[in-house]
Amino acid sequence: MCSIIGYRGSRPAARIIVNGLRKMEYRGYDSVGVSTLYGDRIETRKGVGKVAEVDKSLHLSAMSGTIGIGHTRWATHGGVNSVNAHPHCSNSMKISIVHNGIIENYQSIRQQLRGEGYVFKSQTDSEVIANLLQRNLELTGSIRESILRTLSRLEGSYAFIAIFESGTIAAARYKEPLIIGLGQSAYYLSSDVLGFSDHTEDAIFLGDKEMVLIGPSGMEILNFDGEPIQPTITKIEHELTTVQKGEFSHFTLKEIFEQKSTILRTAEAPWYDSKKMLDRLSSCKNLYLTGSGTSYHAAQIGSYLLSKYAKKRAEPMIASEVQFLPHFLDDEAVLIAISQSGESADILGAVNLAKEGGAEIVSVVNSPTSSLFRESSYSIGLHCGPEIGVAATKSFTSQLVAMYRLASQLSGRKIDPDFKEVSAAVSKVLSNSAKIREIAHDLEAVSDVYVLGRGIHFPIALEGSLKIKEISYIHAEGLPGGELKHGPLALMHKDVSVILVNPDDCTHSDTLTGAHEIKARGGKVIGISNVYNDIYDSWIEIPTVHDAMFPILESVPLQLLAFYTSIQKKVDPDYPRNLAKCVTVR
Ligand code: F6R
Repeated sequence: MCSIIGYRGSRPAARIIVNGLRKMEYRGYDSVGVSTLYGDRIETRKGVGKVAEVDKSLHLSAMSGTIGIGHTRWATHGGVNSVNAHPHCSNSMKISIVHNGIIENYQSIRQQLRGEGYVFKSQTDSEVIANLLQRNLELTGSIRESILRTLSRLEGSYAFIAIFESGTIAAARYKEPLIIGLGQSAYYLSSDVLGFSDHTEDAIFLGDKEMVLIGPSGMEILNFDGEPIQPTITKIEHELTTVQKGEFSHFTLKEIFEQKSTILRTAEAPWYDSKKMLDRLSSCKNLYLTGSGTSYHAAQIGSYLLSKYAKKRAEPMIASEVQFLPHFLDDEAVLIAISQSGESADILGAVNLAKEGGAEIVSVVNSPTSSLFRESSYSIGLHCGPEIGVAATKSFTSQLVAMYRLASQLSGRKIDPDFKEVSAAVSKVLSNSAKIREIAHDLEAVSDVYVLGRGIHFPIALEGSLKIKEISYIHAEGLPGGELKHGPLALMHKDVSVILVNPDDCTHSDTLTGAHEIKARGGKVIGISNVYNDIYDSWIEIPTVHDAMFPILESVPLQLLAFYTSIQKKVDPDYPRNLAKCVTVR
């Protein structure tokens, strides 16, 4: 998703901005741009492609000036081209802006401004911000007033940074993240701490409906009513500042291998206010879980574990669907909101809705500085470190660990996971990666992959198929094994591969029935199991652990299969096409 960054200090801004944009590349984007203020002139350069490519062709880093803004765009309104890339300048060329989010009423604003003689060059919603600022500045003569008036007109979600010809940099946020980094006589503004974490660890997390003005006389933070805000300075966690691939070819592979230790980190992390949180969870009348994509699959597993062990019915809901569901998110409800980033717009939307209804929020989140963390009454941290690969891997197994811990606590330890054993078993699966790589070789040419699992293994089948789609670009579908005969069997033929998530538990023999049905129609079967069966064309062995703990082990070979298939197909698994790490639009 879009990343925004700004700098005002004494060093050349462009180099700092370009480096910051590179640090945030993992979020996903299609074009890049920078504006700097040099003397009383704003210069803008922007183009389509990776930061390094555009920097090379347009010499972004060489732009002069000590005040600047930068952007990586993930197209929503208007095609991928250099005109639609940010920054966008106002007609007077005296203001330049970068924006993350969506201005929902941009068409009516554009119409109004066109009526007043303004000309629009791009198809973006964002360009209205620049011209609205110009209009309001000309009307009021005050940057502060121009921003407040502009904010009162914008609908949707946004974080934007603007530079003004007079030397002021300003920013505002509503439902999109924006963080201020405080350096030695320098200010950084960014949608992600990684944008400036090389320069300072002192940060101010701007609250919703807050804005900042930074000019020659210093910094001023205000709310959208123009009242001053006393900021809190936070120290950024050291681990956020170190994101390297180390010995690995890709972040995705590094993150898959890290799971042997991240599982333990999540398992051993302290929970703050845990007694109060657990009391609230056990006493609430209605319990819900929500998440998007991978995090939703963790919610499904959580629902299964809480029902089975804690006898607590917890309904899983896809975050983007919450707004359309008949539900009871009222003051008798608790919503467990699961998110790696804590910034996904869909989950924040679901949380807002739940809070409006009076429900209490428990977040399960990796980023301790995220909006979701701040929106929740209680939070369970994943502590698995920054996840850079677009496909969620280690954060998923950490989310599962958090769900197991919750089920254990709420059930009076009816399930008592031995996470050391699980971590050792994950190491064993990882040591089998060469064999998994060989199996991935055969997947490269298949047209469709089906991943089958029953019971608690069905969400793992969904998660496995999501990984394959995302980074291998092969059509993949997760299915509950029993549903094959109700339709999908019509699709089985010799070019189809089917992965069975099939440990030796109560689902085992039923899942094998599906394998026979597939084999009879020529499909290839890959079995992920702790026991061998000669129906499998390929067998990926996982160690035997307590029945309930298999899902964590099963996830790892599925991630590796997807990863190695992507490598075979020459896809960059860290940055798959069209996808973003942090989906900040709804
Ligand atoms: C899949 C993936 C996505 C995310 C989803 C939610 O590999 O990464 O499906 O799980 O976009 O993201 P978070 O967990 O950050 O809310």
